[in-house]
Formats: sequence, structure tokens, C-alpha cells
Amino acid sequence: MSADNLSQLKQDAEAAIAGASDLAALDDVRVAYLGKSGSISAQMKKVGGLPPEERKTFGAEVNALRNAVTEVLEARKLLLEKEALAQKLASEALDMSLPARPEVQGSIHPISHVIEEIEVIFAEMGFMAVAGPDVESDWNNFEALNFPANHPAREMQDTFFMEAADDEGKPYVLRTHTSSVQIRHMTEHGAPSRIICHGRTYRCDSDQTHSPMFHQVEGLVIEKRVHMGHLKWTLQSFLNRFFEQDDIPIRFRPSFFPFVEPGAEVDIGCTKGQGTLKIGAGDDWLEILGCGMVHPNVLKSCGIDPKEYQGFAFGIGIERLAMLKYGVSDLRTFFEGDVRWLEHYGFAPLGEAA
Ligand code: DAH
Repeated sequence: MSADNLSQLKQDAEAAIAGASDLAALDDVRVAYLGKSGSISAQMKKVGGLPPEERKTFGAEVNALRNAVTEVLEARKLLLEKEALAQKLASEALDMSLPARPEVQGSIHPISHVIEEIEVIFAEMGFMAVAGPDVESDWNNFEALNFPANHPAREMQDTFFMEAADDEGKPYVLRTHTSSVQIRHMTEHGAPSRIICHGRTYRCDSDQTHSPMFHQVEGLVIEKRVHMGHLKWTLQSFLNRFFEQDDIPIRFRPSFFPFVEPGAEVDIGCTKGQGTLKIGAGDDWLEILGCGMVHPNVLKSCGIDPKEYQGFAFGIGIERLAMLKYGVSDLRTFFEGDVRWLEHYGFAPLGEAA
């Protein structure tokens, strides 16, 4: 084929490309010219059979032709893709100004609602909300929190292990608590620090009062001079606000968590009646959270000097708080996705109770 014919072929190809009105038609054109048995490919195949002096010039011309046509084709493809997207967006456009249909309006899950309430209260106290991943390394979930390998406290946590392991061969875990986020935050940002973090946590445990997936909020404060008094004030203020009472009775009971020293569990005063529970009065106590002064080993693991900084931390079960505040009696109902339950316990998206 002569150069003239090649330029004719180019013109034809370009016209066909310009005439392709959608992506499918354009692909047909591509196949017809550049596909395995396409007409430009046919010219390419001829190159090998030509005498050497012709091979060089003809080869270069066919190559240039192929490149030029490919370029025009790609440009057209981009254009058609853009058009197709614009068309799709136009056809899927939603009129956001239409009023909601009450019969299909969803509600906010009590867990989400409580998380928001907690975040607002702590934000007013100067806490920043941070997040961490559900799949954690052994280091972040255990080791750096002062749970040495084989320490019996690990067993309290009924861990779900992943198949994948880290560089040291230790399997990743589904985090058993949000305390792992303390490690991430201190390692990355050092001290001082004042954060809360909420999220899903997992333990291999399931009955009326335990769900294999549940939610926690973790709080952490690291300062140069901070003590149990600050911790107590912070929790008391939070609980008063959360339960909307002036002075919720609370008591601190010594308890053990490897990552704090001293460690405590906090109970709130309540009255337990027949199938009822009243928060804030009476002579019964209900455990609601764990807390303590951050263990020096934990600070060291995160590169913070325990002689310079101290801190306190606390971990609260969100389901427990939601059950107490909104009178949900069975933990499992949170996760059943029953629409009637959600209609009853859910919150209207615009603020008032549903
Ligand atoms: N991580 C503990 C748990 O899940 C809860 C906890 C206890 C968190 C004491 C803390 C703390 O930050 O200081 O059981």
C-alpha cells in the first residue's frame, strides 16, 4: 500500500471515529481499524514481508498512522465518557428541595444518637474526637498497653484473631477495646493531648448482656500535672450532663487494667425496681466504666517521658449508657435491625424524639 493509501486509511479512520456517537460504536471502530484483524493492523502485518529498504520507511509510516489514529480515538473516548457521565448524572438527578415523605423517613439509631451526645459534651470540655481502625496490631491493642505476651489479662478480652500477621508474625486482631487508639494518638502526636475516640469493639462473647460487636468511647488526657482529681471531676461532669442531673452519685472502686495505675471502675447510684431502673438515686450501684492514671510503661511505649507527663484515661460502654438513658432493656435489640424497634427507640433526624 502506498503512502497515499495510508493517508486515505487515516482519513477514513478519523471520519469513522468522529462519526461514532457513543462508546460502543467507538469501540467497533477501534476493532475495525486497530483490532487483531483491523485494517491498520493488516498493514502492520505486511511490514515484515517487505524488502529491507522499503520495510524501514513503510514501517515508520504505518507506525505513525497507528499512533495518530490511537490518539484521535483516545481523545474521542474521553469526550464520549464525559458526555456519558453528564447524561447519567442528569438522569439520576434528585430534587433535594422536595419534602420528605413521612412514611419512608428513617430515624437515627440510639447508638449514633448517644455517640453524638457524648461527643458534644466532651467537645465542650476541650476534647478532640479522633478515630482508629477496627483491625489492629497486637502492639496497639495489647503490647503497648502493657499487656505482655501470655499475660493472663489478655484472656479477659476474648479476642478475635485475624489470619494475617504483622512483620513479627503476630496475628492482627479485631480491636477488643478503643484503648488501642490511645497508643496510635500518643505515638503520632506525643504530649500533651486531650482526645476522645468512639468506635466498634469486638469480643468473642454473646449472650443477653454481651454482643460480639459493641461500642466504646475512650478518653485520654496527657498533661504535665494531672491527677485522679481531674479524672474524677471530668467523669462527674460528663455523667451529670449526660444524665441531665445536678449531682449524680458516683463511686470509684479499685480495679485492675494493665494500662492504668491506679485503676478503677466507676459505679453510678441507682434504684433497681421490678423491671425498672432509676438512675441517680437510691442505694444500688451500677458499673458503667473503667478508668485510671495512664501507666508509665504505656507512656514509654509511645515515646513520652513519664517523669515529665502524666495522664488519665477512661473507657465507657456506649450500649450501657444508651440502655440506661433511654430505657432499652435488652442489649441484643440494638443490632437486630427491627424497624418497629427503631421507630420506637430511634431519634428524628432533625433533633426531636421520633
Ligand atoms: N479498655 C477497657 C475495657 O475495654 C476499659 C478501660 C478501662 C479503658 C480503664 C480505659 C481505662 O481507658 O483507663 O475493658
